[in-house]
Amino acid sequence: MNRKMRMPVIAGNWKMNNGPAAAEKLVGEIKPFAETAGCEVVLCVPYVSLQAALAAAAGTGIKIGAQNCHWAPSGAFTGEVSAEMLKELGVPYVIVGHSERRQYFGETDGTVHDRTRAALDAGLKVILCVGELKAQRLSGITAEVVRLQTKLALEGVSAEEVEQRVVIAYEPVWAIGTGLTATPEQANEVNALIRALIAELYSAQTAERTVIQYGGSMNDANAGELLAQPDIDGGLIGGASLSAEKFAAIIKAASA
Ligand code: PGA
Repeated sequence: MNRKMRMPVIAGNWKMNNGPAAAEKLVGEIKPFAETAGCEVVLCVPYVSLQAALAAAAGTGIKIGAQNCHWAPSGAFTGEVSAEMLKELGVPYVIVGHSERRQYFGETDGTVHDRTRAALDAGLKVILCVGELKAQRLSGITAEVVRLQTKLALEGVSAEEVEQRVVIAYEPVWAIGTGLTATPEQANEVNALIRALIAELYSAQTAERTVIQYGGSMNDANAGELLAQPDIDGGLIGGASLSAEKFAAIIKAASA
C-alpha cells in the first residue's frame, strides 16, 4: 500500500471561532467543495456550534468534530465535555492533544492518552496531535519528543483502532499560527519517523494504513507541496480553515 492508497484527511480546526450562526454559514459555503472531494473533509468546531454544524453538514460528506473531550464518561469535572456526550450528539471526530491545550491548559501526555482512550471507547475517531517546541527542534530532539508523545498516547490502543479510527497530526508548535511552515521535507521527515514508530509498535501493514497529517500554517499556497510528500496524508488547518475559499483550495490540492 502506498500514499495514494491512503485516503487523505483534510481537517479544519476552527479553534475558538464561529458560534452557531457563523458555523452554519461556513459549513454551507464549504459543502459544494466537499461533495466532489477526493479526500475526507472534517470540520472541528467549538462545542456550542456542534449541533448547528451537524445540521448544516447533514447529507453531505463533511464530518464534524469537536476540539477536545474529557476522559471520564461523566462526573464532577466543571466545564468539561465527555466523549460519551459527543457520541450522543452524533459527532464522529474529536481532536486530542492539540498543542494549545498542552501549552495553555496544562494537558500532559498522560491526560492526552486518557482522552484518546476515552474517545476510542466511545466509538469516536481521534485526531491525535503531536509536535515539538521550537527550543526542542533547535536542541535536535524533535524525533525523541514526537516519538515519546506518540508512544504514550497510543499505549493500549490496538492496531485495528490505529488503522481505522486514529489520525495522527504532526504539528510542530513553532509553525502553528505563526505563518512559519515546516518545509515539505522537514514535515515529511517527521511524518516518516512517526510511521516508522507505528511499524515498530504494531506492524509494517498498520504503518502503511495509518493516516498521518501535517499541521502548522498550512494554507492554499503551500498545501500542494506539502500534500505531495509521500508520508503526508492530509492536513490539520487552523487559520486557513476559517475561509471557505482557502479551505476549498486545500481540499482541491488533497484531491489531486
Ligand atoms: P494554523 O493552526 O493552521 O493556524 O497554524 C493549525 C492547528 O493549530 O491545528
